[in-house]
Amino acid sequence: MNKKYHIITYGCQMNEHDSENLAGMLEALDYEHTDSPEQADVVVMNTCSVREHADKRFFGMLGQFKKRKMKDPEFIICVCGCMPQQPHIVQEIKESFHWVDIVFGTQTIAEFPNLLRERVETGKKQFCILANNTEISEEKNPKRMHPHKALVNITYGCNNFCTYCIVPYTRGREKSRTLREVKQEVISLVHDGVKEVMLLGQNVNSFKDAEGNNFAALIRALEEVEGLERIRFMTSHPKDLSDELIDCFRNGKKLCHNIHLPVQSGSDVVLKRMNRHYNRERYMEIVKKLRAACPDITISTDIIVGFPGETEENFQDTLSLVREVEYDSAFTFIYSPRQGTPAAKFEDQIPEKVKHDRFDRLVEAVNQCSMKKNAEYMDRIVDVMVDGPSKNDPSAWSGRTDTFKLVNFTSEVPLTAGEIVPVRITETKTFSLDGEKVTK
Ligand code: 5AD
Ligand code: SF4
Repeated sequence: MNKKYHIITYGCQMNEHDSENLAGMLEALDYEHTDSPEQADVVVMNTCSVREHADKRFFGMLGQFKKRKMKDPEFIICVCGCMPQQPHIVQEIKESFHWVDIVFGTQTIAEFPNLLRERVETGKKQFCILANNTEISEEKNPKRMHPHKALVNITYGCNNFCTYCIVPYTRGREKSRTLREVKQEVISLVHDGVKEVMLLGQNVNSFKDAEGNNFAALIRALEEVEGLERIRFMTSHPKDLSDELIDCFRNGKKLCHNIHLPVQSGSDVVLKRMNRHYNRERYMEIVKKLRAACPDITISTDIIVGFPGETEENFQDTLSLVREVEYDSAFTFIYSPRQGTPAAKFEDQIPEKVKHDRFDRLVEAVNQCSMKKNAEYMDRIVDVMVDGPSKNDPSAWSGRTDTFKLVNFTSEVPLTAGEIVPVRITETKTFSLDGEKVTK
């Protein structure tokens, strides 16, 4: 019987894609996937370090695996992702979590099969965090989560050093793949049945390859890929969003009418201390240009409350920005100091109670906007790309509009993932739309 593996993924879509690559490597070694960590011979924890409670959950989970490891020394526990990129975390694993077998980093993923083999053959623990070379090695054989849509890395790392953020320290300096290589990968994905690609990077807007191609050139090149239906990307940094990219929204046929544009704060004072390199006026100008180029574009964002020094007035600026932009949705975060980042050393940290109070008020404002924006879809007929049966109701279907709205809908005929079908919206909610498939 084949050995089994289970991967636990925390954090962003880049981690999700790394997990797809890890699954591909394990299957190439004849391991089989299991949904249950208890049944697994190998467990991989692909970690995130963006926020503090991620550390707590992670160490809690490691603790849970200890019991099993004591009974079954052949059970292999692996830790990878952003956490082990921080030296103090590796130290803590070595000192307090000695039952962990393999630790590797975001830039040493390709080493995983060798590390696993070494561990199995020698019984020795394996630590491999630093890459020997700085070449980007994109694993070509990921086990993708969906047959019809694929995640595609276009840049790695980040050069921006927002003062709250750990990512530039854990994922390293920004590197772009080449347009040629990305296009080739997308063509072969489409050949395998993929209809939609999500281009990934911490700041896709600063994509620039060795031949001088920028992000807009990459989008235009992918527009030409026959059989590809939808192109999405994330994440965009407002400071690097070009007019040329806005033209892609105006002229493109496949670029989806949706953008994730993290603002972080509506206050110029806070934005400056965050080192974001734009102000509210510039951000609003981009929003207006995007809407002028593409009137039905939906916009989502990331917002942090309780950044050091944030006053009630600064926070009010964030609330008013949310209402001014009218976001379709927003990921809201309570600021948490990350060791090694400049903001963690700022002296004017905000009390927890104040942070939570602002967070609750922000969530309310965001939800009101989401509900209002979703209500605009009532009675409309929209094209939905089918993802599969709905999670909550297996007799219904679930999919996304081009504008990334989640739609749960009924259909009298069975559907296949990746199909695009017309759906009439019959009810609108805060986080999703309900509807029924119609015939055109
Ligand atoms: N505290 C709270 N939120 C953070 N983010 C990044 N670092 C922190 C932090 N230290 C949020 C930002 C970013 C998103 C991925 O996570 O909003 O855009
Ligand atoms: Fe972090 Fe800023 Fe880079 Fe985004 S752009 S990953 S928030 S440093």
